[in-house]
Parts: sequence; structure tokens; C-alpha cells
Amino acid sequence: MPFFLLTFAPGIKLMREDFSLPDTVAPHGGNVYEVARALGIKAADLLDFSANINPLGYPPGAVAAAAAAWGEMTHYPDRQCRNLQEALAAYHDLSPEEILVGNGSTELIYLVVRALRPRRALIVTPAFSEYEAACLMCQADTVFHPTAAEDAFSLRRAPDLRGADLVFLANPASPSGALLAPEEILPLVEAMAASGAYIVLDEAFIDFVEDASLKTHLRNFSRLIILRSFTKFFGIPGLRLGYLMAKPELAQTLAEAQEPWSVNAVAQAVGLACLKDREFMARSRQVVRRERDFLLTEISRIPGLQTFPGKVNYLLVKLTAPDWTAARLRQTLLEHRLLIRDASNFRGLNERFFRVAVRLREENEKLLRALRACRPGG
Ligand SMILES: Cc1ncc(COP(=O)(O)O)c(C=O)c1O
Repeated sequence: MPFFLLTFAPGIKLMREDFSLPDTVAPHGGNVYEVARALGIKAADLLDFSANINPLGYPPGAVAAAAAAWGEMTHYPDRQCRNLQEALAAYHDLSPEEILVGNGSTELIYLVVRALRPRRALIVTPAFSEYEAACLMCQADTVFHPTAAEDAFSLRRAPDLRGADLVFLANPASPSGALLAPEEILPLVEAMAASGAYIVLDEAFIDFVEDASLKTHLRNFSRLIILRSFTKFFGIPGLRLGYLMAKPELAQTLAEAQEPWSVNAVAQAVGLACLKDREFMARSRQVVRRERDFLLTEISRIPGLQTFPGKVNYLLVKLTAPDWTAARLRQTLLEHRLLIRDASNFRGLNERFFRVAVRLREENEKLLRALRACRPGG
């Protein structure tokens, strides 16, 4: 009953008396609108640690680029995103024909599965849930290769690739933040190539550690697809912009299966502005590295919390005391208007795992104060 106990007050539309969330609120990261609506507060009143977005936001030039693109709104956008394709090619030292731009990398995950029609996809877990959802939608069987907390979510145990004609692997891994070295991934890519299967390497977060990208190996593998996103590093989840990199023939096959005009003119213009701002990129990497190390050290000091050494802009944490769950912690932190990601619904994790984004120092300190006040160690 307290879930739906609502108070009506003059001037206030709906204000909940407690901060418990109804079960209908999806446990995704970044669902600030849904959570705020359920709690009867404004989204802006929540400090969102549940979505892993660059704490510096977007490059300053993005606003002027978006405003200028607004003047183009009476035309359809460039369907091929040619200017952005060329800028991305120059940035990654590839050819434009090796780039396909999409409406966020999520569009491209669904596109790959729809176009390549795998019979059986192997997903390295714990992983972004949309890989499995895309396979399900296209009636592809899914099998899973769990990576374990005891192995720091590495690929210490090699996946059994038999029968798989497509593999989904994220590097850095999400939600664990583990970063695999090229020597750990290449044997898998080579084994998939030998069996004629596709590998989708999701590098949505690699911009924070760009040197670790496997893009320099792209030309050696005709069935390797690397997914990239503007969402995380360039801080524009609401605009929807991502791309994939693959050899020209494969990129062309995928382009033919893409819906027309899926990337709007504003997103294309902002993408171009993002790629020009090298100073923003350098500062982002520096701030995130410093704040992640700070957060990692400080969370590790809180009794009842076990951290994993994430290498990007988020950290996976495990509650070790028997009476604590991530759902309970999320609920308690909502009373401080802090939103964390309950990670219990990731395959391979359980009700004790949660994930937090790395934010700016003052915000991180707010989270640390609230975590300490919860006394998760009892
Ligand atoms: C590992 C991973 N890949 C891809 C995505 C999708 O990113 P977008 O569609 O915003 O580019 C996400 C979003 O959370 C993610 O965590």
C-alpha cells in the first residue's frame, strides 16, 4: 500500500510519501524520467550514477553545431552521413567505406543481427541486455559464456565457440569495466574467422582508453565488426549517435539493411563538432582516470563493499554483508536522491551487485557520504 500512497497538496501535482519504487520501474541504467515520475519528483533532482556518461558532459562546441544544423531542418538529413563518415575515417585512420553511422550503437546491434541472421549467437556475459534482445527478436538461439568475478571478469577461460556463427563481446566489458588486452581478444577473433563466423566487438566505452581499441586489426578480419558510440564519451545519450567499423564489403552489406534517414541532421553535426575537440577528449580521459581511481579507493575502504578494478567511467561493486541487496541499497540511496544501477538482472551476476558511474569530485563525495551512512558492513 505505501507504494501508491500519494499526497495531493496545492501547487504540487503528485508527491510520494515514501521513496520506494514500484516493481514496474525497469531496472535499466539511466531511466531517470521513469524513476522521477514514479517518485513524483523532477528528473533534474536526481543525481544519476546509473548511466555511464562522461561527467564533463558534451564538448562545448556541440551547442553551436546543433543550433546551426537546425537551419537545415527543412531537408532530409544526409542519408549516408558522408561528412561524419569521412571525419570518423580520418580520426581512426580508416577509409569512409569502413564506417557505417547509426542512431546509437543500439540501432546497429539490432541491424547486425537482422542483416546477418545468425542461427546461434554466443554472448560473453555479464553483458548489455540488448544483444540478447536483438537475437531473440530475430529468432537466433543464444548461448552464453560467463566470465567470473573470481577471474576479474577476464577471458581466462576460453569460450566454447562450437556451433556459434556470431559472437558478442564487449571491451571494456559492461557492467564489470574489465579491459581485455588485444592478446586476450585476438585468439577469439582468429578462431571465429577460421570457422567463418562473425564477431561483434562492442567498444562503446573504449574512447576513455582509445589505445586499447582493436581497430588497427580490422583489415585482417573480414567478419569483424567493431561497434562504437558517441553516447558515453561525448555525453550525448539523448541525441542518439553511434557507428560501426568493418571491412568495406561487410559495411556495405549492413548499410543496405539499415532503415533510411535513421541519423538526424543535428546528431550528424554534433558528431562532427565532437571529433574536432581534442582538448575535450584529453581532459575527459584525465578527469575520468583521476575520479575513477579516487572512487575505487574510497569505495574499497567502506566495510561491506567489494570493488572490481574497472578501467573506464564506471565501477561494479558487490555487497558482501548477508542482509544487503542492491535493490535495498538503491532504495536507500534514492532517499538521498542518488540513483545507482542495481546490476542483479545481468546474466551471471546476482542480487548483491550494483554499478556506479564515475562523476565529478563533489558528486562522487556525495555518493561516498551516502554509502558510508548506509553502513553496508553492518
Ligand atoms: C556495452 C554497451 N554497448 C552499447 C550501448 C548502447 O549505447 P548507444 O546505443 O547509446 O550508443 C550501451 C548502453 O548502455 C552499452 O552499455
